[in-house]
Parts: sequence; C-alpha cells; structure tokens
Amino acid sequence: MFYIGIDLGTSAVKLLLMEANGKISNIVSKEYPLYFPNPGWSEQKPEDWWEAVKAGLKELTEGFDKSQIGGISFGGQMHGLVILDKDDNVIRPAILWNDGRTQEETDYLNNVIGKDKLSEYTANIAFTGFTAPKVLWVKNKEPENFAKITKIMLPKDYIAYKLSGSFCTDVSDASGMLLFDVKNKCWSKEMMDICGVKESQMAKIYESYEVVGTIKEDVAAELGFPATVKIAAGAGDNAAAAVGTGTVGKQADGTANCNISLGTSGTIFISSEKFGVDENNALHSFAHADGKYHLMGCMLSAASCNKWWMEEILKTTEFAAEQQAITDDKLGNNHVYFLPYLMGERSPHNDANARGTFIGMSMDSSRADMYQAVLEGVAFAIRDSFEVAKSLGIDIKASKICGGGAKSPLWKKIFANVLNIRLDLIESEEGPGYGGAILAAVACGEYASVEDAAQKLVKVVGSVEPDAEIAARYEERYNKFKAIYPTVKVLFPNL
Ligand code: XUL
Repeated sequence: MFYIGIDLGTSAVKLLLMEANGKISNIVSKEYPLYFPNPGWSEQKPEDWWEAVKAGLKELTEGFDKSQIGGISFGGQMHGLVILDKDDNVIRPAILWNDGRTQEETDYLNNVIGKDKLSEYTANIAFTGFTAPKVLWVKNKEPENFAKITKIMLPKDYIAYKLSGSFCTDVSDASGMLLFDVKNKCWSKEMMDICGVKESQMAKIYESYEVVGTIKEDVAAELGFPATVKIAAGAGDNAAAAVGTGTVGKQADGTANCNISLGTSGTIFISSEKFGVDENNALHSFAHADGKYHLMGCMLSAASCNKWWMEEILKTTEFAAEQQAITDDKLGNNHVYFLPYLMGERSPHNDANARGTFIGMSMDSSRADMYQAVLEGVAFAIRDSFEVAKSLGIDIKASKICGGGAKSPLWKKIFANVLNIRLDLIESEEGPGYGGAILAAVACGEYASVEDAAQKLVKVVGSVEPDAEIAARYEERYNKFKAIYPTVKVLFPNL
C-alpha cells in the first residue's frame, strides 16, 4: 500500500509518497504565491493551494500503481484563517500564521478579556498570528465578509474538505486557533462567544490519526485514484513534523523528546505525556498528533531569513558556496549580530512590531560575517524559547532537526553549539510530509498507534555533537544577543 503526506507549507506544498514499510518512493513540490498587501500582512489564496495540491498529487503518483493508494493525510501551516460562505466559496484570501495585522484585537484579548481568562479557556494567550484575533479583525474591519461566514477553517482542513467533503479539523491544529479548549479537546464556548461565532461554523474535531472520510468521487476520477482512498485528519505542520522525526512520547533515557524545525518559521517542539501550561504562557500548550500534548516555541522568520539574505539582498542562490567562507574558527567569534524579526516575533517576545536588525558592524566586517550573523541570529532566537523550556524544569539533552534549513551542515553545527546539545539527524528532513504519510498509515490500520509507527519507521542516521570550545564562545555571544532586543524594542513601533 501507498500513503501520501501533504505538507501544505507557506512557500510551497510538498507531497510525499510512502510505502507501508516507511520507504519514501517519491517527493514532489509545487510553489504558490505569497502576498504581502501591507507591511506585516501575509496572505495566500486557498484556491492556489488546491490547484497546487491536485497538480502535485498527479505528478507524485505518475508511474506508480494508483490502485495501491490507501490514504492521504496532512501537515499544514497552522493558524491561517480560511472562511467560506454558504455556497462554499472562499470569502477572502487566507490570513496566514505570520500575519501581524491583528495587534489591536490581540491587545483586546490579552488585556481586556485578560490573559488569565484566555489561558483558562484555551491553555494559551493571544498572539497576532493566532486564528481568533483574525476572526475578530474580520468582524471589526470587514463586517460584510464576517456576515457571510458559514465555515471557519484552517489551511490543511480546506484541502481535506475539497478532497473528502468532510468539514473537519484535528486537535493539534485546532489548538492554535485560540478557540479550542486544549485540555478537554473541544471548542471553547467562551471563546466562540467572545469572537461572535457559533459552533455550527466550526469544524468537527478529530484526533490526527483518525479517518475523516473517503475521497470524493469526482476528485478520485480526476486524479485517477481508487474511490476507496481514505482521508485522515492530519496535524499542524509542527506536530506532523514531530511525528515524522519520531518526536512522540519520551526519549529512551527519560529526557524530553524535542524537535527543531527550520522552515519559513522556526520552532522548538517538546512532546509531553501530560497536559501542562507554563505560568507565563511563553510557550504554546497544544495537543499533539499522537493523542497527547506538547509545548512549543515559534519564531516567525527562520529559514526565511536565510532565503531573504541570500536571494533578496545578495541576489544569489549558491547557499553552500556562500557558507564556505564561514569556517569553524569563526564560530562564536562574530561581533556582528542580527535580530531575525523580519515579520515581527512570536515566542517569546510576542511583538508584531519587532523588525530585523543588524548591529555591531565595523570597518572590518565582511559579507561572510553578516551572513553568519543571520544564521546565528535564528539559532539565538530559538535558544530564547529553549531557555524558557529549561526554566520550566524540562530536561533537553538532544533534539531532532528537520525542515529546509536542516539541509545545511553549517547551520546544524551552529545550532548544536548555540544550544549546547546533540542534534540527532533523521534519514529524511521531510518532517511534516513524512509525518502526514505516517498519520495516513495509522488511520488506515497499518500500525497500531502513532508511537508504534514512529518507532518502527523513523531512523536516526547520525548526530552533530557540540564542541566544548565553540559552545563556550557561543554562551558568551548569546548573553550579548539577549541584551539587544530589550534595548532596541522601544524603537520598533515608530519605524
Ligand atoms: C506555529 C506556526 C508556524 C506555522 C508554519 O505556531 O505558526 O510554525 O505552522 O507553517
């Protein structure tokens, strides 16, 4: 049997064809446009996702025995607001996870409703990228669109709906809406009242590894797929990536099971057996795709800082060649620093006004130093969330790493030394796509549970150990990095 994982990302959709034994048979990627109609806004057209998914599914399965396709599932960019009218038309472009337009609504939720109440109802506080502030934004700024809303969806759930006709979501992705009671895994009545929505506008909730329906006849005919293909709920991309890297349950030595994802966003994901909330809500407390829970810190611009610096500023795509100038002796010795807040920042600063900043250059600063600062800035920003986890008593001795950024040996070395932990490398860096395929296989009964499948299928093929000297140098650098944001943050709202 074949299982398909659809990773509905921000720059592209990646589709992965997996055999029942975990072997990856094919991977296909299709890009779509990302729109920034105003500074700090970020939108995509759900119709573009659907066209890209259909084209991708056709290409992915070409030359394979389609009668053997058992199921499809997802890892999807989280928090995006997709709204449909009574005829299932998309009302306006989707407002994405890295969109910062909702500062007013976010402040209202955190300060007027109050963080304590939000945390009691949902286990989380409001961030500009979360879905509930966006629903309020549409209500306040586009009342004519708000009045038309019949269905509220997350990005991957729109694809599940187009494929199966099932109006569904899963617990991990629903967790990022701020409309979901994470502890009890149901919609929060209080939050729906606050946002002015009814339960009939919200999707039916499933565990990530549950079947939500079978493929629609017309879609199956168009793709040449059998009418028996099952669609499983899937997960938010970070929970799916965690499944795809085996970040479920605990490590064999009892320490926390952790994954770092370096996609457009950067996240640190800590799997937990039990529900828990940190007192300051600095980390998100969400449901996991394995039926349990997790904590997560999310930075809004990670691999996208690398892409921006290379493609927009240096005007090159020779990533490996550009990184060659950054040799080991330079690691931990850079006096240039970069704050990677190109789209504002989520964890832990929760500041939509924050912006990218270079500081510390002198006449001897080189192009390589500035590039190094970009790569290091992302690692330091992940360390900010890592420190919050440590302050909660979470013992992280090692982490997996996945996503496009994990393809760079240099960046992995920087991360291992900045965090001073071992990084375990997985056979495939396709975290969310592979996780999506695993969830489909579990939903179709190929494996007893997500944990069972992850144990059998995910293979660690190497590791990057920190170097004591480099890590010590980075410790000092991190302390300097940490002081920059609090000093310059007052400037950002006026820029
Ligand atoms: C997580 C988050 C991002 C997106 C990226 O909270 O906002 O990681 O899911 O696709």
